[in-house]
Amino acid sequence: MVDCPINKFKVWWQESQIDSPLNQKSAVCVSTIDKSGFPSGRFVDLKSVSDEGFVFCTYLDSAKGKQILHNAKSAVTIWWDHVGYQIRVIGHAEEVSEAQADAFWETRTRSAQLTTTAFDQSALLESERLLATRLKKASMQFDGGPIPRPQNWGGYIVKPVSIEFLTFRESRLHLRELYTRTDGCWEKQLLQP
Ligand SMILES: Cc1cc2nc3c(=O)[nH]c(=O)nc-3n(C[C@H](O)[C@H](O)[C@H](O)COP(=O)(O)O)c2cc1C
Repeated sequence: MVDCPINKFKVWWQESQIDSPLNQKSAVCVSTIDKSGFPSGRFVDLKSVSDEGFVFCTYLDSAKGKQILHNAKSAVTIWWDHVGYQIRVIGHAEEVSEAQADAFWETRTRSAQLTTTAFDQSALLESERLLATRLKKASMQFDGGPIPRPQNWGGYIVKPVSIEFLTFRESRLHLRELYTRTDGCWEKQLLQP
């Protein structure tokens, strides 16, 4: 499809990576909804994009994981200042398969695997000192051996129902292209800036 928003996303993502001044080049804001109905946003690394949706990895029992379990409605928001692109995705988040989670786990560095294993994301931390203590404990536990994926770590795919692309213009005449998916087909409309 010529005017497919997923292809457009891939092109913009690629473009954003060229000579990018960003340290975290794939950071995107994922928003979920808490039990009180408040939106809750935080940055995560976007791992992959396909016709199915937008994938990120995290702890399944983190605050965001619990929120998704309660309400799958989610958003992914991006602003790439150096190219002037804003992207807003809304959709439903679903857990990726165990096999996919394993594959993402294998792409992590040993240091990232260790850190992931050492903590219960979103749980209270009694003191900053415990950051080093818990990491050391995890390091001794695995003692140079392979680190298996914790059962509470995996990925989510946000399956989009709409994607809006905004091309920023200094004139404020931003181009806003909204793609909405109905019955598997994408429809495109322009929005006023
Ligand atoms: C640039 C950046 C990238 C991050 N990437 C991830 C990530 O891929 N997965 C993740 O669980 N947390 C990531 N974090 C930490 C999250 O922002 C957040 O603190 C954590 O996921 C806990 O969120 P929660 O308590 O709402 O579940 C990242 C933070 C930053 C600033």
